[in-house]
Amino acid sequence: MLKGKDILNTAQFTAQELNLIMNTAANYEYRVKKQEQIKDMAGKVVACLFFEPSTRTRLSFESAANRVGARVISVAGASSSSTAKGETLQDTIRTVDGYIDVIVMRHSEIGSAQVAADNAIHPVINGGDGSGQHPTQALLDIYTILKEKGHLGGQTVTFLGDLKYGRTVHSLGYFMTLYGNKMIFVSPKSLRMPEELTADFRSRGAEIEETEDVQEALGKSDIVYVTRVQRERFADPAEYEKLKGSYIVNRELISKAKKGITILHPLPRVDEISTDVDDYEGAAYFRQAHNGMYVRMALLALVSGSF
Ligand code: NCD
Repeated sequence: MLKGKDILNTAQFTAQELNLIMNTAANYEYRVKKQEQIKDMAGKVVACLFFEPSTRTRLSFESAANRVGARVISVAGASSSSTAKGETLQDTIRTVDGYIDVIVMRHSEIGSAQVAADNAIHPVINGGDGSGQHPTQALLDIYTILKEKGHLGGQTVTFLGDLKYGRTVHSLGYFMTLYGNKMIFVSPKSLRMPEELTADFRSRGAEIEETEDVQEALGKSDIVYVTRVQRERFADPAEYEKLKGSYIVNRELISKAKKGITILHPLPRVDEISTDVDDYEGAAYFRQAHNGMYVRMALLALVSGSF
């Protein structure tokens, strides 16, 4: 179903494909936990091209590729590749495409993943394109929701923070529309979810509420998805300074939230979740990061036709 396919954005997925990815991830989680030596991608090579900073996405993809039996070549940082000499993305991709079986790429430009896919014969997986999309994060987010809550639908999910530049919320919003979840968007006025996305979510049947009242929103939410103010996307540093720290999730706020609320965050956090929340049992963000490895094993194996 996914063999040979690019993973560029979350609007592309059917519920059936998501089921396949969730089941495959669960299969790999089981096999890794029983310490099976997995060889599904033996003989294959994965390129991880990260032209923007990354800890979790790059390392979990590299770990995933290794654990599924592939080998990895990588670029970490634009300064260490011929991008620094002025090579176009098109030329870099056409070259790398001749060395590998799957390309994973993160880049600062919106739409760069599509450019890469247009210039590669092999599947391209978008590891984040500027403030555009981050589909593999959204996949691990729903895998986490499934594990934490036992089901994916019929829930109220608050998205909190930088909804304008946060690519993870752009991606996850599309999945929420597939499962009939209600979404509440809470952000400072200047960091609201882009209107065209809100309209697109609504046209897919989503119920959406927008507010600046975080306490009221958390009072009726089953899940809160917190994001960092995306400093690197601000043209004016003073504007960032004004907005950082707009919302802080701390133990006190959680004590007033709906009982059993699950807290997700794609990480890295700066100060939007205080560390006193970390030992709250619904604080799932480090489990969420761990789940990313299994989901990425599944994606690499599926798009390369190895599962
Ligand atoms: C996110 C990203 O890169 O968009 N990080 C991640 O991949 N886990 C979120 C962020 O940087 O704030």
